[in-house]
Amino acid sequence: MEENKKIPQHVAIILDGNGRWAKAKGLPRNYGHKQGAKAVEDILVVARDMGIKYLTVYAFSTENWNRPETEVAALMTILKTYLKSSIKKSMKNNVRCQVIGERSRLSDDIRAAIEELERATAGNTGLTFTIAINYGSRDEIVRAVRKLADECKTGEISADEISEEMISKNLDTGNIPDPDLMIRTCGEQRLSNFLLWQCAYTEFYYTDIAWPDFDEAELQKAVDAYGNRNRKYGGLKDDAQ
Ligand code: IPE
Ligand code: IPE
Ligand code: MG
Repeated sequence: MEENKKIPQHVAIILDGNGRWAKAKGLPRNYGHKQGAKAVEDILVVARDMGIKYLTVYAFSTENWNRPETEVAALMTILKTYLKSSIKKSMKNNVRCQVIGERSRLSDDIRAAIEELERATAGNTGLTFTIAINYGSRDEIVRAVRKLADECKTGEISADEISEEMISKNLDTGNIPDPDLMIRTCGEQRLSNFLLWQCAYTEFYYTDIAWPDFDEAELQKAVDAYGNRNRKYGGLKDDAQ
């Protein structure tokens, strides 16, 4: 393949297949989640070294509460450990961390860990790392619409002033650009309620590799595939004119 230098600014990942990965090895699903967390840690450094500026990962969806209580509890414990251990690593790697999603359903200690991580890393100027926890795109849109409706009610804005930009800014991702590349691992080809509004013109990349096995070589493949895409945004490619 011809060498490609086009690097996506923002990569979003639906990290899927932790459970299947573990099951295939005869191990418990929660072991897969632990290995999945390690894979996130590693890919963050790889992404930074490739020149990616924003990395966003789907860690827990608003629908994942439907899993068995023991799995939800294990995921929450893994998330808490991850958030806590991320402070030191993010400071070392100059990574700014933030969490998107609805926080009121999370436990106090997870909320505290999120706030501490965001506060500690707010001044870092390298890659912006966004973790989606209790995130659902439809829930996020509902919350944004409510905010705008409130502003209409108080007279801060009028309904006909509401623009696409205003909606974008009121989503949890209001401070980061839309993803250029969306990766989903382990064979599924769906969004599962992730970044619906933000992915209007995102390029999609699917792989059969399960998330715990997704490494530097796999990310490179995805970035290379992205480099070969023609983003047209509804217009015409240069050579079609
Ligand atoms: C992704 O792995 C992690 C989360 C959704 C929390 P899964 O747990 O969905 O793994 P599979 O899809 O069951 O294999
Ligand atoms: C999407 O994966 C959510 C996360 C990766 C956190 P799921 O495994 O929950 O999605 P479905 O159920 O296969 O659509
Ligand atoms: Mg899954």
